[in-house]
Amino acid sequence: MKSFDVVVIGAGPGGYIAAIRAAQLGMSVGCIEQWKTPKGDFALGGTCLNVGCIPSKALLESSENYERVLHQFKAHGITASGVKFDLKTMLERKDRIVGKMTSGIAGLFKKNKVTWLQGHGKLVSGGTTWKIEVDSETVEAKNVIIATGSKARHLPGIPVDNKLICDNEGALAFDSVPPRLGVIGAGVIGLELGSVWRRLGSTVKVLEALPTFLGAADETVAQEAWKIFTKGQGLDIELGVTISGVKESKKGLSIQYSTKEGSSKIFDCDRLIVSVGRVPNTDGLGAENIGLKLDPKGFIEVDKNCRTALPRVYAVGDVVRGPMLAHKGEDEGVMVAEIIAGQHGHVNYDAIPWVIYTAPEIAWVGKTEQRLKAEGVAYRAGRFPFAYNGRALGREEPEGFVKILADAGSDRILGVHAIGSLASELIAEAVVAMEFGASSEDIARICHAHPSMSEVMREAALAVDKRSLNG
Ligand code: FAD
Ligand code: NAI
Repeated sequence: MKSFDVVVIGAGPGGYIAAIRAAQLGMSVGCIEQWKTPKGDFALGGTCLNVGCIPSKALLESSENYERVLHQFKAHGITASGVKFDLKTMLERKDRIVGKMTSGIAGLFKKNKVTWLQGHGKLVSGGTTWKIEVDSETVEAKNVIIATGSKARHLPGIPVDNKLICDNEGALAFDSVPPRLGVIGAGVIGLELGSVWRRLGSTVKVLEALPTFLGAADETVAQEAWKIFTKGQGLDIELGVTISGVKESKKGLSIQYSTKEGSSKIFDCDRLIVSVGRVPNTDGLGAENIGLKLDPKGFIEVDKNCRTALPRVYAVGDVVRGPMLAHKGEDEGVMVAEIIAGQHGHVNYDAIPWVIYTAPEIAWVGKTEQRLKAEGVAYRAGRFPFAYNGRALGREEPEGFVKILADAGSDRILGVHAIGSLASELIAEAVVAMEFGASSEDIARICHAHPSMSEVMREAALAVDKRSLNG
């Protein structure tokens, strides 16, 4: 029987990073992964690399380039006629990037001597070592890290076939642009993938159950995003709806729903994306065999260091509490590997950035203004628009702003919220600042390159003290 210091179940961002870090720290590591590509080959990388972060960002970039040529280049004096795109090439490019990234992890496993155990992992029994079945083979481990991730939540009565009714997997691989696209759920996937297909020519309607838009984001950012996405870009988003069913006919799909006022409506479309959140994945894991506890929502119960109640069994990533983000899972993977090695692994859950890769992008770290108000925290806010920034104007991307929230007494930064081009990159400065316990004055006094989008961060910091220099 193969025996390891650490066996990781799942090779998404949480699992493969945990495996590599544990190997770097001198442990023998096996990593079990069951994922198969549409061609039937085993693949590493999990949701993120195969059907999540990486392919979605590839399509976002392609569709944004198309939209730039169609609508933005004109302002630069560049016109192009007969602009076309080839969806097959676009999808092949996306698949090539996925292939490069997933085979890259196979290379990293080789380099770090992590054994890739191909197949489904099932916990069988415990004791001094844990026994795990990998298809027909059994392996043993001193320590187990569960990183089995999440899967798309589906709605009762709306069967996903990933042809007409799709979750993220089908929505990343439409073989043609649907003239009318329906999206259920105006969350991160709905907005990102809805934007991709809108730019490529679909008329998109998004149906959202909640009466508010982007409730997790800062309210001012959500309001700005609403204006840009609906009025500016023509995304039709209806809030406060209740979906009652979807019927398939020769003409496509009919979505029946009631509005927040209570009237019944039907929306016809050619394809539907169901993006109503994700649920933890513990399918066939054998949690019951070893007495591993799940919470009422199916997440594996862990403490702040990702320890389960069982000795030497840890769980990280989407399968445990906290935001379902690749970088959160990665950081937990590193923390757990270091704890197993006797080090002091740690994740600062207060400084995990969020990015929504729409155009413009939305990014934030720390607390929102509405949260600070609810908690009764006294704060000062500084806000600065991209419209006053020379680089943003040069790039023809003046939409949005950066807002910094700082403690009224100590000036320590409590939250940073951005909507604008390259917000995903700009937020890194705010994350560093928060990790180092910086004040808004610190950012205001740091030299920022001119002209750069990052100057907006500095001006927002200056605005906390009402002394912006350029606006
Ligand atoms: P996963 O990536 O889900 O990996 C779990 C792995 O475990 C899978 O490969 C699965 O096959 C394997 N597995 C499960 N059970 C077993 C078993 N019993 N035996 C063997 N193997 C098993 N996050 C971001 O931070 N940024 C983004 O831009 C972003 N974009 C996204 C876009 C989309 C469309 C989607 C769906 C998600 C996106 N996410 C993004 C979320 C991100 O993909 C997840 O947070 C991340 O993949 C979670 O990592 P994980 O390692 O916990 O799980
Ligand atoms: P989500 O939680 O972001 O959004 C789901 C939306 O669906 C919510 O607004 C919810 O109110 C709505 N909803 C739920 N049930 C509904 C119903 N019956 N009818 C209508 N609306 C309903 O989930 P999403 O978009 O599926 O993404 C899943 C997760 O994947 C995200 O929460 C995020 O953690 C991760 N992700 C991260 C990305 C990033 O970091 N850029 C990109 C894509 C996904």
